[in-house]
Amino acid sequence: MRMVDIIQNKRDGYALTDKEIEYFVSGYTSGEIPDYQASALAMAIYFKGMNDSETTALTLAMAHSGDMVDLSEFSHTADKHSTGGVGDKTSLVATPIAASLGCTVAKMSGRGLGHTGGTVDKLESIPGFRTEMDMNDFRSAVRKSGLAIIGQSGNLTPADKKLYSLRDVTGTVPSIPLIVSSIMSKKLAAGSQTIVLDVKIGSGAFMDTLENATALAEKMITIGKAAGRNVRAVLTDMDEPLGCAVGNALEVKEAIEVLNGRGPSDLREVAVTLATNMVSASFGRDENEVRAECEKAIDNGSALKKLCNMVEAQHGDAGYITNPSLFPVAKYAMPIISKTDGYISHMNTMKIGISSSMLGAGREKKEDKIDFSAGIEIMKKTGDRVSAGDTLAILYANDESLIPAAVGKYEEALQFSQEPAKRKPLIYTVMK
Ligand code: URA
Repeated sequence: MRMVDIIQNKRDGYALTDKEIEYFVSGYTSGEIPDYQASALAMAIYFKGMNDSETTALTLAMAHSGDMVDLSEFSHTADKHSTGGVGDKTSLVATPIAASLGCTVAKMSGRGLGHTGGTVDKLESIPGFRTEMDMNDFRSAVRKSGLAIIGQSGNLTPADKKLYSLRDVTGTVPSIPLIVSSIMSKKLAAGSQTIVLDVKIGSGAFMDTLENATALAEKMITIGKAAGRNVRAVLTDMDEPLGCAVGNALEVKEAIEVLNGRGPSDLREVAVTLATNMVSASFGRDENEVRAECEKAIDNGSALKKLCNMVEAQHGDAGYITNPSLFPVAKYAMPIISKTDGYISHMNTMKIGISSSMLGAGREKKEDKIDFSAGIEIMKKTGDRVSAGDTLAILYANDESLIPAAVGKYEEALQFSQEPAKRKPLIYTVMK
């Protein structure tokens, strides 16, 4: 078999065979197939798509490209995964809630991708926090706190690890088969019985319509169920950033605010909905009852305690969780001031993610280092009334030269109107 033939087959719109897909996944994982051929195939898949049987074959080949985590010693294992968004720090809120209510959460997360942030980058802003662990250390962290979040460490889905960072820099992220196989390979390899997917819709998501998001959710649910897992998808809004913080340490601080019973209500609502689905699907319990318990886990501090336990078990400094003012603040803070009176009618959320990335919070190349304190604090969101002179947002950076272009990008993202704009629903639906 030759990789060039596989690329050409896909370029010309043919369905790939299971053997061709396995050849690509194993060759790319071992390094025999170079990045340039993998990029060409990713681009051909982006344009020509994949049918259900190709997508399933790609997902399974990627899931089995490395170790499969054995969680059989644990009960009520539940995982969650977002398709990616801006300011999306729900994992940091939803997983401690679910763990405090008895789920075992052994989660494998990703890094930032395109304009979106990644949980692993956010967690690494906590000094000492280890996101790379071998399976024994991972299981022992789960035993200690009932909750552990790691990156694609050791030999877990190495195919996705390589392909994910390649897609990030080759414009091949927003493709349904590539997203399905990336997410579901990680979720299947990570071993949890219950999987709750947060499928984002809007200008900051990889799917910008309800129709495409529904198609993505359906495919992930079908593959998960065929593999014997209990899968739900919550379709949520990403037509404006979630919460008010964008950027790694800023987002961790905001998640801690919510776990302290403060912070933005949209973040709390999405996180509670995800946690409710994790717990009710794992235990087969009534959703209304579970939701009330999730709210209580925030109000009585048990979810925050879980987050502290996780940070300690993963060698992080939990003092940052109890005292978030310890997180370093970026050297430069640039306010964006409104020039108009009116209402914010739309936020192009991808542009806001790009603006944050330009400040140093994301990567442009695979090897770029993240600046944890860089990012954006948003003061005005869609539907808010603004007057000329109001601060719309504050941009943070440690490199002053990065600020002007990021300001331009942020300003480009905003639209104003004279009438209050209608907000999109925060939660569209839950698919089972
Ligand atoms: N999240 C993932 O893990 N993979 C994708 O392709 C997109 C979002």
